[in-house]
Amino acid sequence: MAAIDYLERIPNNVGLAENRRLQRALEDWQPKFLQWWTDMGPDGFQARDAYLRTAISVDAQGWAKFGYVKMPDYRWGIFLAEPDADRRINFGDHKGDPAWQDVPGEYRGVLRRLVVTQGDTEPASVEQQRHLGRTCPSLYDLRNLFQINVEEGRHLWAMVYLLDAYFGRDGREESEALLERRSGDADKPRILGAFNEKTPDWLSYFMFCFFTDRDGKYQLASLAESGFDPLSRTCRFMLTEEAHHMFVGETGIGRMVQRTCELMREHKTDDVRRHGAIDLATMQKYINFHCSVSLDLFGSEVSTNAANFYTMGLKGRFEETKKPDDHRLKDATYPVVELVGDTIATREEPALVSLNERLRDDYVADCQRGVNRWNQVIKSHGIDVELRLPHRGFHRAIGAFADAKVSPDGRVVSEAEWDARHQEWLPTEHDRAFVASLMEPVTGRGQFANWIAPPARGINGQPVDFEYVRLA
Ligand SMILES: [Fe+2]
Ligand SMILES: [Fe+2]
Repeated sequence: MAAIDYLERIPNNVGLAENRRLQRALEDWQPKFLQWWTDMGPDGFQARDAYLRTAISVDAQGWAKFGYVKMPDYRWGIFLAEPDADRRINFGDHKGDPAWQDVPGEYRGVLRRLVVTQGDTEPASVEQQRHLGRTCPSLYDLRNLFQINVEEGRHLWAMVYLLDAYFGRDGREESEALLERRSGDADKPRILGAFNEKTPDWLSYFMFCFFTDRDGKYQLASLAESGFDPLSRTCRFMLTEEAHHMFVGETGIGRMVQRTCELMREHKTDDVRRHGAIDLATMQKYINFHCSVSLDLFGSEVSTNAANFYTMGLKGRFEETKKPDDHRLKDATYPVVELVGDTIATREEPALVSLNERLRDDYVADCQRGVNRWNQVIKSHGIDVELRLPHRGFHRAIGAFADAKVSPDGRVVSEAEWDARHQEWLPTEHDRAFVASLMEPVTGRGQFANWIAPPARGINGQPVDFEYVRLA
């Protein structure tokens, strides 16, 4: 194949043109990536023009260029946030030392694992979402789906850049393996549980963006604090893109809530299924499901791995540098929720081993703010219903609650009560079949599926009825 024109095909600010070794590694990887994208990327739309944002540099003018592009021609670039020449390691045993520009030898294996675990989620979500385009509720939503998909593809490039540039042969092998695992595959699944779940419909998709992608935001924010400067700078730039993914999730659910409330008022009923929309009770079940599987992504409440990542200076806390403490945490404690027999209690644990729980707390608070905004929509329709996050012990597979049965409101329940009631708490086959029955594509300009309200405004100043994807 022809040599790649790096500046043109792979926009970057990592000096790719001058780095022959890295060029060779990426030259070898790129056709495999494109093959993966063809096989596992958005099904049925690869030849269509979509109105997408491409990052071509990290400054304000260059990181958000909008225009029509066919997804296989998307210019997946490699961008790191601008360097801070005096940057220090801000926490752990190396606090105060200059940030590492190369991988510290003693932490090589741990750091590679952190990069691979993050990297694995990026292609996984593209795989999970690959059939959604066929049932899009509008061209606007279709475009947002594709925007997220290409950006998750770019996030994969970002992690592969780190592996290829800093981890030698092992890094290149890991880069290949990232294209070989498959979401939900029994033999070669993705690394983390939530990334092997199905995303079969748009309700699940918006919930995924709100809950599961938000875990990504919190993991990236912690890695953005890393003493390994290339990882920090990579994650800082990824976070700018992640903001749009959060927006899609929150406003997607918000628009569904709005539409449901409109129909509840119009027909004076809670049962909007008869009117072709999704009732709030069903949305609550989806919240319970997606929130609980996403809480598992933060890992065990008490974790020596988390303590080690911190002490080594590899992974910090959310907004580490804003926290007013010693950033070493050797003597500090942190309240951790635990199960004592049939009751849920809080106990103080050493802060270092509690870092997963602490990040989960930051995450839950952020989720709650989104739920509050949905509840505002409900309230503004004069409807007396509140959506709620489930208790953190509900439906967990990892950590202190993995073996317990906990109701969404935080009661430890018997096996018998769980069996009798879990269908009230989690989506049933019947619920999923109903949601699936609504998933008919709506692709006329300015048209929206009956179960979702139009957005308040379009993308990049374009009108809501803009031709966001050209299907003809
Ligand atoms: Fe991502
Ligand atoms: Fe994302």
